[in-house]
Amino acid sequence: MDVFDAMKTLLAVREYVQQPVPTDVVRRILDAGRLTGSAMNRQHWDFVVVRQPENLQQLGQLAPHGPYIAQAALAIAVVVPEGPLGYIDGARAVQDMMLVAWEAGVGSNWVGNVNSAAIKELLNIPQDRMVLTIIPFGYPAKSIGIGIKKRKPLGEVAHAEKFGQPFSS
Ligand SMILES: Cc1cc2nc3c(=O)[nH]c(=O)nc-3n(C[C@H](O)[C@H](O)[C@H](O)COP(=O)(O)O)c2cc1C
Repeated sequence: MDVFDAMKTLLAVREYVQQPVPTDVVRRILDAGRLTGSAMNRQHWDFVVVRQPENLQQLGQLAPHGPYIAQAALAIAVVVPEGPLGYIDGARAVQDMMLVAWEAGVGSNWVGNVNSAAIKELLNIPQDRMVLTIIPFGYPAKSIGIGIKKRKPLGEVAHAEKFGQPFSS
């Protein structure tokens, strides 16, 4: 799968089959995060891999917008410093991890608005760090990824030279 195909077909996956993701694929996903570029190359990120079913269950309970974490093969907590660079660097790493996972047939999604305090306690995350997101990963339960995305057309978001002038070619 080339990069554009991976990006074009990547969709949020919220249902997973009960099948483990091989360790080499997990390592590849983590490497994708680790190899991402960051501001001043600070690499101020940590990735906590959660695979124990009881911990996944607990994460699901601590994520009102992502209870399906409980059904995932694994989840990765992305831990960054508070502040804009934490958000930006962490989000870039997340996207790279998702794309590399997708290339291996593994779906994922960004789960936000989690109960950070309880998750920090559960995963032993230092108090001065931020839980940016919990990403569940797993093989998709449904056949998706055929590239049907609900997105604004290019003409609505791309401008030529000046804002408001449509980009046509
Ligand atoms: C910053 C951010 C926060 C998100 N939070 C959640 C969330 O809490 N729960 C969830 O199920 N999906 C969440 N998503 C996934 C979005 O709903 C999803 O990317 C969007 O609807 C596009 O989905 P699609 O690529 O399948 O079309 C989040 C995505 C982003 C980028």
